Amino acid sequence: MTTVLTYGTFDLFHIGHLNLINRLAELGDRLVIGVSTDEFNAGKGKTSVVSYEDRARIIASIKGVDLVIPETSWDQKVSDIKEHDVDVFAIGDDWRGKFDDLKELCEVVYLPRTDGISSTEIKQMLRVLDPQHITEMQEALAVMSRLLEHYRDLT
Ligand code: CTP
Repeated sequence: MTTVLTYGTFDLFHIGHLNLINRLAELGDRLVIGVSTDEFNAGKGKTSVVSYEDRARIIASIKGVDLVIPETSWDQKVSDIKEHDVDVFAIGDDWRGKFDDLKELCEVVYLPRTDGISSTEIKQMLRVLDPQHITEMQEALAVMSRLLEHYRDLT
């Protein structure tokens, strides 16, 4: 029985997350995922669109995921590896080298990320729908429109 462990926020669940989970599931027989809590993310200055409870339910319902645990601190990895009898710690290669110290306890694998998608990019794209952003765009258009009228009157 090979147990695999990873951690992540998994906000606005997307194809990069699914690809990663599929690759993680192929590394062993049992997959444990630590989902970052809202409080842990707040400490990192990160805010999720989707609450911890909903992100944890989504991840738990993905084929190949056996157990979801809360990620509440940077320091829990060693005790989680021991408690869940972990053989492989794996995570996307944006973290390459960051968790090499865990090699004393288990195998450490950095998996390739899916290109061109991230929760941050989705949030930036959704920003165009933000009422404040729409108001700013309307104000900018009004200024441009007045300028164009001014130049038309001059010619
Ligand atoms: N991941 C991936 N491919 C992507 C995006 C994420 O393989 N395109 C992986 C990350 O490397 C990590 C896991 O998915 O192992 C969870 O990452 P997370 O930070 O929650 O997702 P991101 O979309 O990268 O979110 P953010 O933009 O907030 O960092």
